[in-house]
Amino acid sequence: MSPFFSDPILALESSCDETSAAVVVGTEIRSNVVSSQVDLHKQWGGVVPEAAARAHVEAILPVIEDALAEAQITLNDIRAVAVTNRPGLIGALSVGVSAAKALAYSLKVPLLGVHHLEGHLLSTLAGRDGLPFPHIGLIVSGGHTELVEVTGYGEYRIVGQTRDDAAGEAFDKGARVLGLGYPGGKAIQEAGAAGNPKRYKLPQGLSGVATIDFSFSGLKTAVLRLAQSEGDNISVPDAAASLQETIVSVLVERAIRASQSLNSKALTLVGGVAANRLLRDRLAAACEQEGVEFITPPIDLCTDNAAMIGLAASVRLARGERDSMDLDCYATADL
Ligand code: KG4
Ligand code: ZN
Repeated sequence: MSPFFSDPILALESSCDETSAAVVVGTEIRSNVVSSQVDLHKQWGGVVPEAAARAHVEAILPVIEDALAEAQITLNDIRAVAVTNRPGLIGALSVGVSAAKALAYSLKVPLLGVHHLEGHLLSTLAGRDGLPFPHIGLIVSGGHTELVEVTGYGEYRIVGQTRDDAAGEAFDKGARVLGLGYPGGKAIQEAGAAGNPKRYKLPQGLSGVATIDFSFSGLKTAVLRLAQSEGDNISVPDAAASLQETIVSVLVERAIRASQSLNSKALTLVGGVAANRLLRDRLAAACEQEGVEFITPPIDLCTDNAAMIGLAASVRLARGERDSMDLDCYATADL
């Protein structure tokens, strides 16, 4: 029997600042529509929860309509509704969960709540017929930096994590200090493209300590001090390149160490920061050297999207998992 749900799933994601709907069948993505709130939150330099929830309310029905149209199906063809219900901003999550409940109830099809991080981890299923186990998943986003040992679908053990800021936060905060705007990851990548990554020495966090955890809070302080001490003499391209180099080096070093110590067959790279070109290239090269498969989804599946929620749901629905109309949302939740 296939480990994947073979009928059309409508998946919704609204945990942070992207409203998204997708149609997934098995591991095939028929559509994946994302409405981003980046332009809205830019003015505040970060996501404002109340504004995010209101923007989800406006965007949710149009993205669902677009996802159905792109997949060339109608609501009546949908056989299950999946939705991110944890973790995330409560007001934002509840928009997706309410819409999913209303749809599942009126269509009389199963409803399933999905953990956002399981969605990121299983975004790697896109276009594949399965994943090798055990493998290590590196989840790097604006809110998360985790190394997860994956021994099967639904079998996750966190083996390393950040003790303070997430990797994406380090990019975002560094970009703010350097006057590069929000969100910072892409801006740092672009500004740093012509820079010298060895120009400024920045702290990696927890180096010299026997751990595969991360710490990025010292990095932000170091960039702030650098900006203050250099003043107008600072080279923004060199500072951006140095910041990117520091974050990428530590992510690659810890991920490879986790993979070696757990004898993993593959390393997956997921989450918004996985869109980073240098990180993708470095990790691919390191995996090749180690003889482990490197798996990362296309960039539009790295940042938040509903297709990854549909892929995770595809596994759980095929196992017969269902949620009731009492499905709730949670700001924090274990994987
Ligand atoms: O997964 P995601 O879309 O949302 C969360 O769940 O947080 O990740 C967003 C994060 C932001 O911190 C953003 O700066 C970072 O991903 N990001 C990047 C790049 N593109 C997005 N970081 C580094 N390089 C990039 N090219
Ligand atoms: Zn995410």
